[in-house]
Formats: sequence, structure tokens, C-alpha cells
Amino acid sequence: MIETVASALGAAEARYVERNPESRRLHEERALVMPGGNTRSVIHVPPFPLTIVRGEGARITDADGHTYTDFLGEYTAGLYGHSHPVILGAIRAALDDGIVLGAPNRYETLLAETICERFPSIELVRFCNSGTEANLLALSLARAVTGRPALLVFRGGYHGGVFYFVHDDSPLNAPFPFVFADYNDADGAARAIAEHAPELAAVIVEPMQGSGGVIPGEPAFLHALRDSTREHDVLLVFDEVMTSRLSTGGLQKVLGIEPDLTTLGKYIGGGLAFGAFGGRTDLMRRFDPTQPQPLPHAGTFNNAVLTMAAGAAGLTQVYTAAEVERLNALGDRLRDRLNGFAAERDLEFSATGYGSMVGLHFTREPIRRSSDSPAAAEQRALMHLDLLEHGYSYARRGFVALSVPLEESDVDGFANSIESHLSANA
Ligand SMILES: Cc1ncc(COP(=O)(O)O)c(C=O)c1O
Repeated sequence: MIETVASALGAAEARYVERNPESRRLHEERALVMPGGNTRSVIHVPPFPLTIVRGEGARITDADGHTYTDFLGEYTAGLYGHSHPVILGAIRAALDDGIVLGAPNRYETLLAETICERFPSIELVRFCNSGTEANLLALSLARAVTGRPALLVFRGGYHGGVFYFVHDDSPLNAPFPFVFADYNDADGAARAIAEHAPELAAVIVEPMQGSGGVIPGEPAFLHALRDSTREHDVLLVFDEVMTSRLSTGGLQKVLGIEPDLTTLGKYIGGGLAFGAFGGRTDLMRRFDPTQPQPLPHAGTFNNAVLTMAAGAAGLTQVYTAAEVERLNALGDRLRDRLNGFAAERDLEFSATGYGSMVGLHFTREPIRRSSDSPAAAEQRALMHLDLLEHGYSYARRGFVALSVPLEESDVDGFANSIESHLSANA
């Protein structure tokens, strides 16, 4: 079996190299000036990634002219697809009035208002340029206001380039003292919070781990975090950089949990570079420049005109409650279908997630934390190459994020291709 996967993978890689000479050439050109041809770790795949030259609606085209239906959705940031007329219209209109104005502009209020309306726990919000930065700022705020240094994080979690806990702790992580706990272990987390409370500023958690495998947090676990952080006067930060899309007010709205601080990013900037953090007035007011001794938080592009305009247009005109529901239903359709197929055929495969975010795993055992999902590197690589040949793009690690231009027929086509891949390689 292992040999079969390895030899099928060798053959699939050879076809990939053969089919993509221009992507290979471009990769080699990049590698002369960027380490390994890469400036964003997650988008490297061996032997070389496809260079994408164009996107339109839900389709992307690579440098060799192949077209794919996009099930990666730029790791959730591409929620609006590639050429949504509302987003493009907002960017074009803003562009005409100048984009580097060095002052408050007329778009940021609407974006901030919409975020505060949608997320009841966000009473005040500030913008920045990435999800990583949002987490750095939220956690630094927590440390500043509590006067305590440590942060409790979950194994398998990802909060940005300097908060990487998916496998081992990264040597590039921010130099904060971290306390680790297991995801979906309510008792273990409550014990760790109680034990470390005197030095803990905050607990940060993704209400569904995204990079860790699209693994939903169990409601009892997340409620336990809220209860024990409150009991011990530790701040609770929900990282909803990916999950904010899962209802009109993120997973916190679905769960009925109000964290003290929330971090946002990805699609909320309309597809442009974006991050935000917000929460309780008493915490966020520490940044108020009209108050004595405000905390400094500068950032040249914090209120970047194009981002503010595109983000406000997207949230108010495109990602309505009805669209949230439609996209989540498409995700349920994909998950239900793949899980039904795997159960019927008794295949070691399952789809996890919630709504429009889906994780693919090579096991049917329950997945409560990332260590429950087999690495299955060769199976994942083989399925990825096979799906690309069928005209579907997603992340090799098994990450799928749906986007607004996708329709049921796209989801069914993607599911058909996964099913035929699994049947052929069972
Ligand atoms: C949950 C979560 N937090 C934070 C980040 C970091 O966001 P960015 O890539 O914008 O820095 C990501 C990115 O994937 C994420 O998934």
C-alpha cells in the first residue's frame, strides 16, 4: 500500500513537472533572489508551486494556461473571489481620490461601525495590516493592562508568523513566556489557567483551529475557557482571523461567548492586506490619544484607503446574513457528502470544519486536536496533485475555504473528483 502511494506520487509529480514548464521556470527565477523562491512559507509545495497569473470569479489560471476552480480561497482571505464587481468598484472609486492621504479618511468609520455592530464583544476596534499584527497588538495590550507577562496558547494553534504552535514551537515566535495546553481539553486548560493565573495576561484561542486542521472547538471547552479566565481575572482573546466569516458575528456569536478581545483579518479587508483587534471599551480606550498617557499604536497603513473602502463595501453589500448562510450551507454540503462517501466505502478519510471552512483528513477516527490527524504526507501530496489535474485548487495540507462566486455545481464537481481519487487510491 505504502509503495503504491509512493510510486503513484512519483508518477503524478513527473506529470506535474511535465505540465508546468513555465511555473517551474518562474520558480527557478524567483529562487535566484528569494530563499527557495519563497516569501510566504505556506504557499511552497514541492517540487515547485504553480505561479498563478490571473483570477476571475472562482477560477484561477496558472502560468502555463491551466484553469482551476479555486477551493483555497486564499486561506479564507479570498472570500469575495477574484473579481467581485462591488469590491472592484469600491477600490476603483477610492483610487480616484488618492490613496496615501496621511490622515483619517472617509471609509474607515463605516468599516469600524460594521465590525462593532456585527461582533457585540467588539465595542471599539483598531485596524492594522495583518492577522499576525492584530494578535501581537491584542496580546501586547493584554500584557500591558494586566502587568502580567505570560500567555496561554493551545498546541496546534496558529496566530500568525510569530505565533506558530501547529507543530513545535517555532524559533521565530515572539519572545513571550507561553504556557501550553491541549485543544478541546476543558479540564486541562482550566487547570493550567488556575495554576498559572498569577503570571497569565491572557488566553488566546481560535474558536476553530484553522491551520491546525480546521478542527472546531467544542462548545463546552470554549465556555470553560470563558468561565475560568473570568474566575481568575485573565483576559480571553478569540482569534477570529479565519472564523469571523462563519456567521455575521464570527463563531463567538454562534457560541454565545463574549471574549474580552477579538482579532480579525483576512477577507474583512476585501482581499487587501488587513488586520484588526477590538473588544471591551475599558481595554481599547487605553489607545485613546485624547486620554492621558495613551498606549502608542502607529502604523502607516492602518487605515489604508483602498482596504477601508473595499472592506466596508464587502461587509455591507456582499457578505450579508443571507450570503453567510448560503456559503456555510455549501460547506455543509461538501462535508456531508465526503463523510457519507467515506463511511459508505469504509475509507480512512473524513472532512471536518464548520460552514464554509473544511479540513480533509486521512482517518475516520474523531479529530479533536491536530495530533489526531495523521500526517499522511504522501497521501495528501498525491490527492493534491490529482485534484490539480482535475482542475481544482486547494491547500495540500487539506485546507479548503469556500468563496462567494462558488456554486453548488462547483462543490459537487470538487466532491466528485475527491471521491474518484479516493476510490482509485483506496
Ligand atoms: C487564526 C489565524 N490567526 C492569525 C493569522 C495570521 O494572519 P496574517 O497571515 O494576516 O498575518 C492567521 C493566518 O492564517 C490565522 O489563520
